Amino acid sequence: MLVRPIINMRKISILILLATLLIYLFSLSSCYYDNLERLNPTSVCDTSGSATYSGTVKSIMDNNCTSCHSGASPSGNISLDTYTAVKNVGITGKLYNSITWASGTSPMPKGSNSKIDDCSIIKIKKWIDTNYLP
Ligand code: HEC
Repeated sequence: MLVRPIINMRKISILILLATLLIYLFSLSSCYYDNLERLNPTSVCDTSGSATYSGTVKSIMDNNCTSCHSGASPSGNISLDTYTAVKNVGITGKLYNSITWASGTSPMPKGSNSKIDDCSIIKIKKWIDTNYLP
């Protein structure tokens, strides 16, 4: 009568241990995917909501383009530092062609050995396709 409950207690504690291990492993695997997303931010491109100049395009231009394309004598005589200026280059098709390195247009940013990130390109495309929201 005394031995049986002790054995059952042992079985139960082994079960609890196994369950704890399983829960631990599951929580590890979800952390793993969380980290993977953080390590690869390009795999998550949030294109929900509208693409506007003020909210989306301006910062992309400022981070990648206005160092050359602004001021009194902008490179290639192309300004990219105001809404109207960027929109006008967009309408010619050269904005999109330059950042996608399409043939017939100089690849931009000039001198860079890589394009700007895919997510920024997708957002600029959306801005163009939705008719240049300010
Ligand atoms: C390091 C300076 C520099 C940076 C940064 C730069 N550009 Fe340029 N860009 C130039 C120069 C110089 C020209 C003119 C000569 C040429 O076409 O190569 C030019 C030309 C252009 C043209 C006209 C291309 C054509 O074939 O007519 C476009 C459009 C353009 N840039 C867009 C951009 C965009 C968009 C960015 C940011 C993603 C950018 N540029 C970043 C220097 C730069």
